[in-house]
Amino acid sequence: MLNVALPKGRLGEKVYAMFEAAGFPCPSIKENTRKLIFENEEKQVRYFWVKPSDVSIYVERGAADIGVAGKDILLEYEPDVYELLDLNLGKCRMAVAGPKDFYDDGEKTLKVATKFTNIAANYYNSIGRDIDIIKLNGSIEIAPILGLSDVIVDIVETGTTLKENDLEVKTEILPISARLIANKSSFKFKGELIESVSKSIEKQVK
Ligand code: PRP
Repeated sequence: MLNVALPKGRLGEKVYAMFEAAGFPCPSIKENTRKLIFENEEKQVRYFWVKPSDVSIYVERGAADIGVAGKDILLEYEPDVYELLDLNLGKCRMAVAGPKDFYDDGEKTLKVATKFTNIAANYYNSIGRDIDIIKLNGSIEIAPILGLSDVIVDIVETGTTLKENDLEVKTEILPISARLIANKSSFKFKGELIESVSKSIEKQVK
C-alpha cells in the first residue's frame, strides 16, 4: 500500500489529479464528504487530506510514504525527507515587505514579524543584519501597520494582500513552489514504486 499525504485545498486537488493520471485513481475521493482518508485497495493506494503545513510531518515520521509540501515549509522546518520533484504548482515568493515609506538604514535592530522564523533568521544572518523576530501565526500584514514590527517576512502570491494594506515588497528572498517529498525509509523499501510514481508525475509537470 502506498500512503500519500495530500495538502487539503485547491492545490491538493490538482495534485490528486496528477496521481490519478499516473495510474493511482481513487474515485471515492471525489465524493463530497468530510472524510479525510480514501483508499483504493485494487490499486494499493491510500490518500489522506492533511493541513498543508503538516504534510512534511506525516512524511518525515513515515505515516505517509510520499506527499506534497511547499518549499516554504521544507525550508522552515527542515524535515528529514527526500525532495523528489518540483511540481511547478502553488508558485509564490517569500519576501520582505513593509510600509512604502519605510527604509531600513541599518542603524537599529530591525523588528521582523513572521510565521517563518527560521527562513527569516537565515536570510538576515546571510546578509549580516541584526533582527528581533516576532513570531506570529497569521495576518502578518497587520504588524507593521500597528508598529509591532518594521517589516514582515511572508509569502506573496498575487500581491493583493500587501497592496490592500499599503505595504510593498522590499526584497524577494526565495521563489516557492510545491514539491513531491518521500519518507527516507519508504524510499528504500518501496523505492521502485515511488520512483515510477514520481517519473509519471514528472511527465505531467508544466
Ligand atoms: C498568505 C500570506 C499572505 C497572502 C498572500 O496568507 O501570508 O497573507 O497569502 O497572498 P496574495 O499575495 O495573493 O495576497 P494565507 O492565506 O496563507 O493566510 P495566513 O498567512 O493569514 O494564515
